[in-house]
Amino acid sequence: MLDQLKQLESEGREAFSQATDTEALEAVRVAFLGRNGRLRALQEGLKAVPKEDKPAVGKEFNRVKQVLERLYEEREASLSAPAAKTGGLDVTLPGRAPRLGKQHPLMSTLDDLLYIFLGLGFTVAEGPEVENYYYGFQALNYPEYHPAMDAQMTFYVDAGTLLRSQTSTVQIRVMENTKPPVRIVVPGRCYRRDTVDATHSHTFHQLEGLLVDEGITFADLRGTLEVLARELFGPDCHMRFRPDFFPFTEPSAEFAFSCVFCEGRGCRICSGSGWLEIGGCGMVDPNVLEGVGIDSERYTGWAFGFGIERVAMLRHGIDDIRLFFSGDMRFLEQF
Ligand code: DAH
Repeated sequence: MLDQLKQLESEGREAFSQATDTEALEAVRVAFLGRNGRLRALQEGLKAVPKEDKPAVGKEFNRVKQVLERLYEEREASLSAPAAKTGGLDVTLPGRAPRLGKQHPLMSTLDDLLYIFLGLGFTVAEGPEVENYYYGFQALNYPEYHPAMDAQMTFYVDAGTLLRSQTSTVQIRVMENTKPPVRIVVPGRCYRRDTVDATHSHTFHQLEGLLVDEGITFADLRGTLEVLARELFGPDCHMRFRPDFFPFTEPSAEFAFSCVFCEGRGCRICSGSGWLEIGGCGMVDPNVLEGVGIDSERYTGWAFGFGIERVAMLRHGIDDIRLFFSGDMRFLEQF
């Protein structure tokens, strides 16, 4: 009898473990634990066990019965788990929430800049990043081998093809195809062979402005850049000019905004000067106008250009330009 119980236990273990779906499991249950099953049959046999052996055999019978019942329950639980029901896909697992993207701080700064200029009646123009020497330098009134090109050292695809070092190239492309009045802003990526550090990047972005019409003066440029300063940094921010040189403007100027961190008193960020250099500007050189077939006796214009990274860094207090291009989520998630 004890042998038979042992045998039943080991066969039961095997049978329950091999039941791979609920139907098969039910068949095994009926065969072992059912009313006409094998356990019941052995129970009948208990009657014939000699009296003195009964306690031991009865105890073993109960143990085997409990083992078989537990095997059944465990198998039942695992087969009816959701993962099994849906063929390996556990539909009760929590889902993976899609991560919501957001705008890069450079692009949101650009959007705000464009919004300011659209409000002033400008339209947005764009041009190619891969340029030829004519648009890159010649049409912008750079004499061959002029030292002003040193500040614009860029990457060459071949002797006459280069990655633009400034968005000023688009001034030429637009004026070639548009009669005055011309009133555009040009956002775009630029490239220079600068050594990368906290304030220099070989790839960066500029916003260019160009206005050409009859009777345009330096005063219009001043007024426009004052509006830009106020719109970007608040009513207390002011703009100043200092003389500069660019081949495509005459006269040329550098423009700076009063320091937004110390309100002009002088601090670490403005190197104690109270002013933050923003970009270059000037009256469009008559040579440039004539080069694109615009009568420089009748029309005058101004232009400016500045780095979008610089503005974004000042707005958000970012101290390293490399962060923009790092792809580091810890940086990007702050904006
Ligand atoms: N393109 C110049 C630079 O990258 C900036 C600039 C200066 C743009 C004067 C202009 C301008 O349109 O008139 O350094």
